[in-house]
Amino acid sequence: MKAIGENSVKLGVCYYPEHWPEKLWKNDYERMKELGFSYVRMAEFAWTIFEPEEGKFSFELFDEAIDLAHECGLKVILGTPTATPPAWLTHKYPEVLNKRQDGVQFQHGMRRHYNYNSSKYRELTTKLVERLAEHYKDHPGVVGWQIDNELNCETNEFYSTSDHNAFRQWIKEKYKSLENLNNAWGAVFWNQTYTKWEQVFLPRPTIANSPNPHQALDEKKFFSDSAISFAELQANIIRAASPTQWVTTNGMFGHLDNHKLVENVLDFYAYDSYPNFGTIIPDDTSKPLRDRKWSWNLSKVRSICSNFAVFEQQSGPGGWVNRVEQPSPKPGQMRLWTYQSIAHGADMILYFRWRTSTKGSEIYWHGINDYHNQPNRRVKEVQTISDEIGRVGEKIFDSKYEASAAIVHDYNNEWDGEMDTWHGPYTKKSEESWFKAFQYNHIPVDSLHFNDRTDIKHLKEYKVLIYPHPAILNKEYSVLLEQFVEQGGTLIVGCRSGYKDTTGQPYMMKTPGYLSELTGVTVEDFTRIASTQPEPHISWNATSEMNKAGDFNEVLALNNSESQIILARFEGTYYDKQPALVKNAFGEGNTYYFGGVFNLEIATNLLKELNLDDETNIVAPENIEVAIRTKNEKKYIFILNYSDESQKLILKKNMRELISDEIQSGYIEIDPFDVFIYETELN
Ligand code: GAL
Repeated sequence: MKAIGENSVKLGVCYYPEHWPEKLWKNDYERMKELGFSYVRMAEFAWTIFEPEEGKFSFELFDEAIDLAHECGLKVILGTPTATPPAWLTHKYPEVLNKRQDGVQFQHGMRRHYNYNSSKYRELTTKLVERLAEHYKDHPGVVGWQIDNELNCETNEFYSTSDHNAFRQWIKEKYKSLENLNNAWGAVFWNQTYTKWEQVFLPRPTIANSPNPHQALDEKKFFSDSAISFAELQANIIRAASPTQWVTTNGMFGHLDNHKLVENVLDFYAYDSYPNFGTIIPDDTSKPLRDRKWSWNLSKVRSICSNFAVFEQQSGPGGWVNRVEQPSPKPGQMRLWTYQSIAHGADMILYFRWRTSTKGSEIYWHGINDYHNQPNRRVKEVQTISDEIGRVGEKIFDSKYEASAAIVHDYNNEWDGEMDTWHGPYTKKSEESWFKAFQYNHIPVDSLHFNDRTDIKHLKEYKVLIYPHPAILNKEYSVLLEQFVEQGGTLIVGCRSGYKDTTGQPYMMKTPGYLSELTGVTVEDFTRIASTQPEPHISWNATSEMNKAGDFNEVLALNNSESQIILARFEGTYYDKQPALVKNAFGEGNTYYFGGVFNLEIATNLLKELNLDDETNIVAPENIEVAIRTKNEKKYIFILNYSDESQKLILKKNMRELISDEIQSGYIEIDPFDVFIYETELN
C-alpha cells in the first residue's frame, strides 16, 4: 500500500479538458493554482478520445492537457475510462452490455452500461489500460490513477450472459459439489434441487419477485467479487508499468466489499461526498441528521481506510436534467462540508467540478465556476477554504480520528438483510439511531466492519461495540466477541441476533444462538409489531422512564445466573413486565441485550449507562458535531455548526483555535455553518 504521498492536506478539482475549447485550458489551470489547488483529476470518461477506433490509440489531447497542467504546477490524477465504453465498442460487441434481471439489455447512451465479466470487455480494457499505463508511466505530472469511476454506481446488479456463466463458475469453485450447493441453498425446499451445473443461474425473475434467499445472498457476494476482480485486472497492469504511481478508485456503492477491495487492490481509498443529498432525502424520524448524515458515510469510509481522499467534494447544487433537485449550498455550507470530510479523516479533497458542464445530463450538477466563468460566491468560498487549509493543513495531515466506541456492521448481514425484511430494515434503523445518539451527545464513534480478517486486536481498540442485529453470526465471530468482553469490553446487541448461519439458514438453537452464553439470555417469545398495532413501550427500572419500542419485540429469559440485571421491561402488551433489556457481566466486561430495535430515545438512554468520558472539555448544543483527530501528542477538536443559526459553546479550558489562530476560553459563539478547530495536548 502506498500512502497519499503528501505532508499536508491538499486540495484540487475534477477537470474535463475534452469538454472545453483548448484555449480555455491554460487560464483554467492558472486560476486553479491561484486558488491554491495542487491536484487535477481527469480522463475517467474519455475512452473514445484515447481509442477512437478499435486498436487505434491517440494521446494528443490528453498529452497536451497533462503537459500544460504539469507546467502550471498541478499534479495529475488519471482515470482509466472504463466506466463509459465507446459507441464503436458496444455496437460491435453487444455482449459487453449489462442486462436487467428480466433480460432487457442496457444500451449505449448513459454510463456504466457494461458488465465486469465479459471476456471481450476485459480484453479491450486490458489493451487500453496497458497502452495508457505505458504512455503515462514516466510522466512527471502524473502521480496516480483512479480505476474506472464509482464501481457499482448507477446499478449494482449484473445479469448479462457472461455474468450468469461466471456465477456458475464461481459457485462451482465455492461449493465443489452439487450436494454442497443444494445444502447451502436449502434447495430441498420447494423442489429447487440442482442435478447439473448447467441448471445454475443468478436469480432470474420469479413469481412474486421472491428468489431463493440463500441464492440471493451468494448473488451479492458474486457481484462484489466481480467488481473487485475487474479493478484488480487494471491495478495489476498499472503497477507492472509503474512502481511509483499510486492506484485507487472512488465512491462507496452497494454490493461491493470495499474493505476487501482496498486490502487486495488499492493503495488507499477515495470517496465522493455529496452531503446535499441529505437535505432532499425525506427523513421522518425524530431529529433528522440531514447533511450531517454524511458524517456516518464518512465514518464508514474511515473504516475502510483511516486516512482517505475525497475525489468529488460537493461544490454547488446537484442536479441532473431529469432527477436530483438539490438546493444551492447556503453561504458557508461548502466550507462546512469540506471540513466535515477532513474531520472524518480526509487528507486530500478534490472539488467536483471546476466548471458546470454545458452539455449532457449534468448541466445542473454545478461546479465551482458557473457557465459564465466569471467570479461567483462559490469560487470565493473555495478561496477562503484554501487559504485556511494552507495554514492548518500540515498539522492535521495524517492525524487519526479518535473514537472509543464503534457501531459494528458486516456485509453478510447487509446483503442478506436486503431481501430478509425480518432483520435488514432493523439494522438500518438501529445504526442510524445509535449514530444520532452519539452525534447529539458529542461522542465520536467509528464504524467497524466485521469480517474474516477481524481479530481481537482490532476489536480492543474500542471500549464499546454496538452490533445492533447480527442475524447471521457463526461460532468463530461469537468467540471473538466473547474474548472482547472477557477482556473488559462492552458489547451491545439488539433483537434478531445470532439466529442464522453464513448461508442465511436459521440454526436449530434457541436465539441468540452462539451469543446466548455471552449475553446471558435466551429469547422465550417474540413478535413483529405491525404498523397498524399500538407500539409497546419499555420502562426503565432505574428511572421508570418509558420509551416506545416498536418493530420487533423479544421476551427475554435470563440464563439463571447471578450475573444478569434487568434494566428495562416491556409495557402495554401481553408480555407486560417481562424482561426487555438485560445487562450481563462476563469476564472483565459486560453485555447488554435489548429485545427490540433501537430508536434514538433508547440508544440515548443506554449511552448514559455507559458513562463514556468527555474527551473535549467543550459543552456544545445538539446542532454541533464534535470530531477528534490526534497526532504527535496533539488533539485536534473539530467543531462543526450544521445550523443556519449561531450557537453557543462553553470551553472549559483555554484552547488555541487554529483557523483564527486565537486562544479562546469560556463562552464562545459560533456563526451559522462555521467551523472551529481547537488544538490541545493529548493528555
Ligand atoms: C458522481 C460521479 C460524477 C458525477 C457526479 C455528479 O457520482 O462520479 O461523474 O456524475 O456524481 O452526478
